[in-house]
Amino acid sequence: MGGRDATMVLLDENGIRCDGRKVNEPRRIMIKAGGLKNADGSAYIEFGDNKILVGVFGPRDVHPKHMSNTDTGILRVRYHMEPFSVGERKNPAPSRREIEISKVIKEALEPAVMLDKFPRTAVDVFIEVLQADGGTRCAALSAASVALADAGIPMRDMVAACAAGKVADTIVLDVNNEEDQAGQADMPIGYMPNLEKITLLQLDGVLTPEEYTKCVQVGVDGCKIVYDIQKKALQDKYFGNGGD
Ligand code: CDP
Repeated sequence: MGGRDATMVLLDENGIRCDGRKVNEPRRIMIKAGGLKNADGSAYIEFGDNKILVGVFGPRDVHPKHMSNTDTGILRVRYHMEPFSVGERKNPAPSRREIEISKVIKEALEPAVMLDKFPRTAVDVFIEVLQADGGTRCAALSAASVALADAGIPMRDMVAACAAGKVADTIVLDVNNEEDQAGQADMPIGYMPNLEKITLLQLDGVLTPEEYTKCVQVGVDGCKIVYDIQKKALQDKYFGNGGD
């Protein structure tokens, strides 16, 4: 948060945002299931100007062995940003931010994945952010769900993710990079629409209780839009012409 460009109009008098979207309109979303032949499952997402590739490996043996669990499988997630993915070159060393996002995505996916069916094994999810423009954790989480499904890992539901936020005193769907920097709040949400369960909810900024409730509603509605696109990506690969 915090006013990077004080002159930028975040919301004009007609309710149009700085990138031309309406208040409840997400950015353009494209998801492709599959694509990486050496992965057990994969997906590619474009979410606005975010471009993210996800590869899933497993269930497979756990190395180091002491990390394995005799009662259940484990999920491991690595979120990684390419140095060229942002305007100002990112240091290639793992950052605190990447460690945090890896952790929240792992915890957001765990309720969806039936790890108890694969004791002693690991499912590894590798997320490569090729281009970032605000909202990469939501885009990555949505793509990771599709990649897990593409790998044939049994799941209770897919996790769809989208952020809502507060910009120019208004609750809006899918906060972009400019809005994230200059806006008042950003709330990434991960949601399983069939099970009606939220698996990720973070909040950067300050909201009143009423704004908080509205933000969750708007974000969950955005997740439902993402969910339809996730399902279509899998349908295109397995029942349509989009397969490899
Ligand atoms: O990407 P997300 O919104 O989930 O996480 P964030 O920490 O709120 O980052 C917001 C945005 O800041 C990212 O999507 C990038 O576009 C940008 N960013 C950057 O320019 N340089 C970095 N080293 C990290 C993030």
